[in-house]
Amino acid sequence: MTKVVCPGSFDPVTNGHLDIVERASRLFDEVVVAVLVNESKASMFTLEERLDMLSRATSDLANVTVASFRGLLVNFCIENGVQAIVKGLRAVSDFDYELQMAQMNGSLTEVDTVFIPTSPEYSFLASSLVKEVAKGGGDVSRLVPDFVLDLMKERFSA
Ligand code: PNS
Repeated sequence: MTKVVCPGSFDPVTNGHLDIVERASRLFDEVVVAVLVNESKASMFTLEERLDMLSRATSDLANVTVASFRGLLVNFCIENGVQAIVKGLRAVSDFDYELQMAQMNGSLTEVDTVFIPTSPEYSFLASSLVKEVAKGGGDVSRLVPDFVLDLMKERFSA
């Protein structure tokens, strides 16, 4: 059984994240989508909201579960029997930092990192840009699930 983790902030989850999670769920036996709890970073959605959104967005994927973690990702992996970290690579610009993190995580533990190339239609996609464009009234309906779009609209109209 190969258990992997897809880590991130998911503030909010985008169709780019879901593309990677779905493809990981076809490649590996078990996928845990893990939300980093980062008290020093302001987020649009609370941890509970992000976990709810991820549970809802992955409810059709039987081998995917959702969790949160604090501190080092490799510790979460060891504590949860996770063998590999799955990361999406959008462009060459992602590669330098992702390689550095993969090698650091690999130097700390046996946990390996597997890169999945982002589907081209999502290569420009980032949660931060989705929030900025949605806040400015731009159309992000192709970039996030419908219910995430509704939640963002609610948040910006509040
Ligand atoms: O969605 P993000 O914010 O780009 O995700 C980044 C994340 C959470 C994957 C990364 O920051 C991470 O793994 N943080 C956990 C802390 C950690 O393990 N740091 C050492 C990295 S070598």
